[in-house]
Amino acid sequence: MVLNRVGIIGGGQLAWMLRDAATKLNIKLIVQSPNQNDPAVSIADHVIFAPIADSFATKNMSELCDVITFENEFIDLPELAILESNGVKFYPRLNSLKPLLDKFDQRSFFHGLNLPIPRFSLLENEADLNHDLGYPVVLKARRHGYDGYGTFIIKNKQELTEIWNRYNSPSMLLEEFIPFQQELAIMAARNIQGEVICYPVVQTIQKDQVCRQVFVPAQIPDSIVKNVEAIAHTLLSKLEYVGVFGIELFLTDDNRVFVNEIAPRTHNSGHYTLDMCDISQFEMQLRAVTGLKLPETNFNSSHSVMINLLGYETSNSDYQEKRSQIKAMSNTYLHWYNKTESRKGRKLGHVTILGNSRQELEKKALEIESIWEQN
Ligand SMILES: Nc1ncnc2c1ncn2[C@@H]1O[C@H](COP(=O)(O)OP(=O)(O)OP(=O)(O)O)[C@@H](O)[C@H]1O
Ligand SMILES: [Mg+2]
Repeated sequence: MVLNRVGIIGGGQLAWMLRDAATKLNIKLIVQSPNQNDPAVSIADHVIFAPIADSFATKNMSELCDVITFENEFIDLPELAILESNGVKFYPRLNSLKPLLDKFDQRSFFHGLNLPIPRFSLLENEADLNHDLGYPVVLKARRHGYDGYGTFIIKNKQELTEIWNRYNSPSMLLEEFIPFQQELAIMAARNIQGEVICYPVVQTIQKDQVCRQVFVPAQIPDSIVKNVEAIAHTLLSKLEYVGVFGIELFLTDDNRVFVNEIAPRTHNSGHYTLDMCDISQFEMQLRAVTGLKLPETNFNSSHSVMINLLGYETSNSDYQEKRSQIKAMSNTYLHWYNKTESRKGRKLGHVTILGNSRQELEKKALEIESIWEQN
């Protein structure tokens, strides 16, 4: 059966970036998203305007598509499970997503697979403030965190008490702080037939818990690349996952790898694939969920860097001047998400630069940041 009408729950930039791949594969995109201004509204063949967790809207969408996939995990899983049991096809299957939507459930799932992870516990009452994870400690909202919202690196018990009270959630995740030398990520995909592919391991650079830059490839020994790929294979097969996912990891000074989290969808650390690879993560996602083959990727350069353009003020500007300056740089590809409002920390676009060495790209990344941040 040909699956060429794909429903996407979520209409942000991750859905917007499916555009070229959908055209190439002759796939129709039907998007469920709440607002007229959401990035993917402009590229969808049809839009169901509704909140992400509105399963009634998803039921309506299912009548227009052959398969439904996700660009965001703020869904109502039990409600969608009713649709799935009535024959609606979701890829990844809801059972694959079940252990992944809540950060505590993810940690418990990784623990069950004996994967290396930070020690963790729950914070649910006063007594839990006396944890044995040491300080600094990391406090995380179990659900609905993104781009560092809902993640706090905490110095002492007093600060932990304050933030916990302020956050006012009945249950949060506490985990050991890993003093990493670098953060890594990998994008991987598995299709309906069980074929698996991995993209290169990349280095991600976060500031204030938000991703700023991604360098491709990560400069790490081969043994670590193999280790990270093995983790990706284990997770894809244990979850019987269909689709693309990103895994974020920590690498310590003594070359130990810890899994931070899985993002069960396309991911910021794979945006470079749009310009550096002949098959982007977005095409791979559409291929995986429609039963197409997952070909090996060819690369347009040996190295690349991706730089997020984050909002630094509240504004309605479209930053034309800065965008033209960036576009004028050689081997530089700007992706602007056409959001109508800028806020501090909001992802407004990204830039990928292709090059021949890490050193060259570090210099260019600084240039981009100075154009973007200048007044
Ligand atoms: N256990 C930890 N030890 C050290 N640093 C951590 C730890 N957990 C999180 N961090 C830091 O905080 C960042 C954000 O954490 P995490 O990835 O869990 O949150 P998120 O908001 O889901 O992220 P995303 O931006 O991927 O949506 C990490 O990339 C890392 O820099
Ligand atoms: Mg993360």
